[in-house]
Amino acid sequence: MALVSATEMLQKAKAGHYAVGQFNINNLEWTKAILLTAQENNSPVILGVSEGAGKYMGGYHVVVGMVKGMLQDLNITVPVAIHLDHGTFEGCYKCIEAGFSSIMFDGSHYPIEENVAKTTQLVKDAHEKGISIEAEVGAIGGEEDGVVGMGECADPDECKMIADLGVDFLAAGIGNIHGKYPANWKGLSFETLDAVQRKTGDLPLVLHGGTGIPADMIKKAISLGVAKINVNTECQLSFAAATRKYIEEGKDQQGKGFDPRKLLAPGFQAIKDTVKEKMELFGSVGKA
Ligand code: 13P
Repeated sequence: MALVSATEMLQKAKAGHYAVGQFNINNLEWTKAILLTAQENNSPVILGVSEGAGKYMGGYHVVVGMVKGMLQDLNITVPVAIHLDHGTFEGCYKCIEAGFSSIMFDGSHYPIEENVAKTTQLVKDAHEKGISIEAEVGAIGGEEDGVVGMGECADPDECKMIADLGVDFLAAGIGNIHGKYPANWKGLSFETLDAVQRKTGDLPLVLHGGTGIPADMIKKAISLGVAKINVNTECQLSFAAATRKYIEEGKDQQGKGFDPRKLLAPGFQAIKDTVKEKMELFGSVGKA
């Protein structure tokens, strides 16, 4: 199947009371692991690409070329979107040009008037090309590519204002944080989420910082309109742990010496296991 925008899969998810996972990619192994797991579980999937990861992989054209090649050669038939994660205004235009099927404009740090002006322009230009667009209101806490936010709760009226600009899905800060949650984390603000959903109606809502949120909170968030959940750190942790174990057991030194394909195999499997677990939790298995 060709790349698709994320609009239809997320509208279906919201109506069907499940969520589609956005799993961030960093290299070929992660991309292949996520795509194969989506196919094996008949689940739609969104591949998240941060600007830093895009640069690391060689550029946005490399990412699009690699993903399109995998869709073809691995016979991936489930719906797949390539989505810019936390894009700058300029980054969004680079991804539109390179062939991404979805973008996120993170204008949450701009004054609201500027966020509105930039989002309006991007909505028009993305939609002209059939590309879906996510906006963010209320900075998500933690660190993402060097940007540190404080985990705010979004203002529901501001969410309504940005939703009315025609974005396809909306990330609203509800006390969520990127990376590991601190021991004194107060949990998600379901009061905020409920108020945001009341103001924005059928619009699919996005939960960032999917790593480390307890399963019962994930399920409650889905019941209150979350239709896309972003996971990055958990894949990083499982990949690192599996690779470390392999090296500590000395397995990288066996046989005919150093083989990068063997070295990366346990991490590849660990990402597959993590993604499968999340797809089951989010309820997207069998929904392609
Ligand atoms: P985690 O790294 O906490 O899973 O968050 C990912 C994310 O929200 C990407 O936008």
